[in-house]
Amino acid sequence: MIKDIYSDPELYEAAHWWKTNDIEFIADAAAELGGPVLEMAAGTGRLALPIIEQGINYTGIELSSAFVKFARKKLVKFRDLAQVLEGDMRNVDLDQQFQFIFIGFNSIFHLLNNEDVASFFSCVYSHLPDDGLFLIDAFVPHPIFLYRAKQKYYVMEFDWPSGEHCIVNETNHYDSDTQINHIHWYFNTSGENEMDEYRFDMHMIFPDTMDRLLTEAGFVIKEKYGDYDKTPLGPESQLQIYVCGR
Ligand SMILES: C[S@@+](CC[C@H](N)C(=O)[O-])C[C@H]1O[C@@H](n2cnc3c(N)ncnc32)[C@H](O)[C@@H]1O
Repeated sequence: MIKDIYSDPELYEAAHWWKTNDIEFIADAAAELGGPVLEMAAGTGRLALPIIEQGINYTGIELSSAFVKFARKKLVKFRDLAQVLEGDMRNVDLDQQFQFIFIGFNSIFHLLNNEDVASFFSCVYSHLPDDGLFLIDAFVPHPIFLYRAKQKYYVMEFDWPSGEHCIVNETNHYDSDTQINHIHWYFNTSGENEMDEYRFDMHMIFPDTMDRLLTEAGFVIKEKYGDYDKTPLGPESQLQIYVCGR
């Protein structure tokens, strides 16, 4: 059976143990701008903790009910400062504005067409005050990964909480008409004969399209970084980090 990658928060946390290079960057941005902070596609609360630990008010929006439940449990001792709400970032309406709104770790690519991205931007815009900032962190899609030969490629490895070692490989099919990359992940756990298979889709948004959609939504692009050290976005950049205002 092919499973949804966002159905199992324990698996997500275990598999992504290595994703730590964005934490300081996001925590520092929150400290600089102050709260309240709104994270779109908040996941398991991975980026919430370093914000809340600074005493900053935090709201997370997340589509997966299993992830929302997991994040709430993780953040329970901060319930005076933090909330995680189940919702869709394309149309959530919170009747509140937030000094800092962000979407991290490539989550924007889960909006599978430009209309959904436009709805999302309009939703962010309505929750941002005149002096607030909106930040996007995603990788820059690269043809080498999109058009590579049809075979399995190594992605990552991790230990399950129960101790077994797991190696993850992937295949992908990029549809250049829709600009959607269809990805399958194969989880090969030591001692198990069967491989678990997960699938997910990512809408490849290239920087020129990101610029256009942000501008059409009314945002002013203030900074474009190519890395967490704030190097400007350039031809060799692996990341596209946008900082925008109204
Ligand atoms: C790559 S994970 C990132 C999670 C978290 N931000 C992090 O950095 O660990 C992407 C998340 O986006 C969520 N998501 C996808 N589409 C969404 C939508 N329309 N509204 C809200 N969340 C969404 C998924 O359920 C998943 O938790």
